[in-house]
Amino acid sequence: MRSMVVIIALHILLAGPFFAPMSRLLIKNAKALVGTHPAGQGRVPGRSMANLPQIADGWLTTENGRITGLGSMSNFPGIADWTDLTVIDATGRYVLPGWCDPHTHSIFAAPRDGEFVDRIKGLSYQEIAARGGGILNSAGMLRSMSEDDLFEQAKARLEGMMQQGTVAVEIKSGYGLTLGSELKMLRVAARLKKEMPLQIRTTLLAAHALPAEFKEDRAAYLRLICEELIPQVAREGLAEFVDVFCETNYFTVSEMEQVLASGAEHGLRGKVHVNQFTSIGGVQAAVEHGALSVDHLEVMEPADIDALVGSGTIPTLLPSCSFFLRIPYGPARELMDKDLPLALATDHNPGSTPSGNMNFVLSLACIQLRMLPEEAIQAMTLNAAAAMTVEQELGSLTVGKRASLLITKEVPSLAYLPYAFGQDHLDTVLIDGKVIRSGTAIA
Ligand code: NIG
Ligand code: FE
Repeated sequence: MRSMVVIIALHILLAGPFFAPMSRLLIKNAKALVGTHPAGQGRVPGRSMANLPQIADGWLTTENGRITGLGSMSNFPGIADWTDLTVIDATGRYVLPGWCDPHTHSIFAAPRDGEFVDRIKGLSYQEIAARGGGILNSAGMLRSMSEDDLFEQAKARLEGMMQQGTVAVEIKSGYGLTLGSELKMLRVAARLKKEMPLQIRTTLLAAHALPAEFKEDRAAYLRLICEELIPQVAREGLAEFVDVFCETNYFTVSEMEQVLASGAEHGLRGKVHVNQFTSIGGVQAAVEHGALSVDHLEVMEPADIDALVGSGTIPTLLPSCSFFLRIPYGPARELMDKDLPLALATDHNPGSTPSGNMNFVLSLACIQLRMLPEEAIQAMTLNAAAAMTVEQELGSLTVGKRASLLITKEVPSLAYLPYAFGQDHLDTVLIDGKVIRSGTAIA
């Protein structure tokens, strides 16, 4: 009994503020508060993305997990009641909204580092898939894994992502490819939603690859998705969105349309994989079906970009995937020039992007997509939040929103974050006002 008390006391001492709920918090002297959008501001159109609102020399308060006030230190109104208040002096540090990651496959059974070596030796992603590797390889491994093991692994991945500043994540199924295993993945996601502090949205991606059992009868697999899986997932509230890998050798445009139509009937909006390797009309069809986002877009014809203009569909680029597979980068500047509200995500998955690090996405966006640091930050915060329908809650430093935010180390400029790539510039991460990562700003 006595040793238990000592262990608990030690735990509290070492873990510090993570376990001690901070109901009230004041951050003062921030070098700048970044992304201080007015209440009600939704997705930011491409040509405005460079105008990232900031307040230099700022203060910000939180209470019960929400942002309660912010402004410039020159107008700091003071605090009436200083009891039970944690004060963070953020001198030299930026305060940003936490990263939202609107496209991941973070539930999976095992890494595919063998395929990585095969690609170094010269095989392409498509050649590996044609040999039974790729998505089908992941599905084989996931089908035999228990729900508990999948949960523990995914939880550890999400914990790592939170340490790197991610406060909201979309997670797809798509490595089950049977009724039971797709549901198993979504139940794991539901448990993560309940037990993890970050915001999670889930997507049914049964149309990720054609399982071998249906090789001779594609239509039967489509029926399974549209007539059984989608209705059951909707009934049990297991997903908000539906996804399809619309690509040569995966699913056709018309198959994607069937899935999107069935999803719409059951209240699941589309968030689809299109134009990763080939342009086959998926963007146009997704727009016609009112998809929330079209993701990947590494191979875009002018007509694909034009189809997005005036639509409600958010183009989402995944530069870490381009980096890892050595495929083209999406046309970020062209999309922004058309005033489209570009979003960025990691695409975290074992095959094409074994990284859930949004800070690396920020560097790639600036270095490879030629986005300005301000544009990239908008794409990873408010526009990313909109691409997973959490923009009312997250994505900007706005009174009333969740106090899920990042405090950087002392850095010379905002541009230094993507510039000094591969280095860890975060000091503190808060989710709903609670310290998830405690750095020197708090100590
Ligand atoms: O977004 N392109 C389709 N799906 C994933 C990769 C899946 C895998 O290789 O396991 C992606 O890149
Ligand atoms: Fe993906």
